Amino acid sequence: MNRYTLAAREIRKSLPPEPGLRDIVRFASLAANSHNTQPWKFLINEDTVNILPDFLRSTPAVDPDDHHLYISLGCAAENLVVAARASGRSTETTTHRDEAGDTFIRIALGEGEVTDTMLSDAIPKRQSTRSEYDGTTLSDAELDQLAEAATREGVHFHLITQRMKLDQALEFIQVGNAAQMDDPAFVDELKSWIRFSSKTSIEKADGLSAPSTGNPSSPDWLGPIVFGFAFRKKAETAKLARHLASSAGLVVFVADDETPEGWINVGRSFERFALMATALGLCHAHMNMPIEAASIRPEFAKWLGIEGRRPDLVVRFGRGEPMPMSLRRPVEDVIVA
Ligand SMILES: Cc1cc2nc3c(=O)[nH]c(=O)nc-3n(C[C@H](O)[C@H](O)[C@H](O)COP(=O)(O)O)c2cc1C
Repeated sequence: MNRYTLAAREIRKSLPPEPGLRDIVRFASLAANSHNTQPWKFLINEDTVNILPDFLRSTPAVDPDDHHLYISLGCAAENLVVAARASGRSTETTTHRDEAGDTFIRIALGEGEVTDTMLSDAIPKRQSTRSEYDGTTLSDAELDQLAEAATREGVHFHLITQRMKLDQALEFIQVGNAAQMDDPAFVDELKSWIRFSSKTSIEKADGLSAPSTGNPSSPDWLGPIVFGFAFRKKAETAKLARHLASSAGLVVFVADDETPEGWINVGRSFERFALMATALGLCHAHMNMPIEAASIRPEFAKWLGIEGRRPDLVVRFGRGEPMPMSLRRPVEDVIVA
């Protein structure tokens, strides 16, 4: 087994029989997060974990108002809650503002029933699977389970499975993608988070590693050159069409409130959806272009029937084969005293 696979396995090892807070924080850090920047810090007190934003890891080009950053914190919070409950703890989650006015999450832990074990077991197996799926549809029972998992006060979601609707959505995705590829700041920022070589992937343990995006690793000097040649609009447009055609559907998440609290809620709803999908043996991956490209977003919202509001995440789902796992920084690096 190569060093990359070993590193991915190590961070994803199962919870021990009596997990401590560090084990639970490790599971929280396995959450989905934008560009795998891992924009979080965990402040542990006796029975409380605060999840703080790490603005040194923000991505201003794709995420100028820290919308994705707060969704990522919501994803981590949901993993933390699920892992804590599966280890017999109760959880109470609240949001607060620090002295600078920045929102953070506090999770108070106590004694409780053992619940959520199915979703907790899915945490180390969940991944963004950026490949072609097998094109099959989901049963009503599967769709119901996904919908039930994603249901959360403060969040609405649109499950789209009709092929005609998916074809219409594809146009927004492709136009959004073209707008992003025409934006040098977006492309430069994306490139800065790609870890082209295994060596750098393992050293930094963050960012988008080549294997997890379906590309071979390459030397750090060569990767950006190959990326420049391979990252072409025509090829990307065709790939998006194949990816959506092979998927069973799309889910679009919309927060009631366009605030950090609202975005944290979206992260929690999406992460639960993703964990349930994983538990059911299903795959998911983001197709966020129409919500990231600000010029496309209003038309996309209108098409969804929510004119004037902000759709927050676009995620495809279906059946496919797992890909190499992404890495995370060691838990010691994300815990602050
Ligand atoms: C708010 C948010 C936005 C994301 N946007 C994209 C995206 O546009 N394209 C994509 O391929 N993945 C996207 N992702 C998935 C992350 O890149 C992924 O979670 C991260 O690289 C870690 O990989 P993993 O999900 O396999 O653990 C997003 C995730 C979050 C939480």
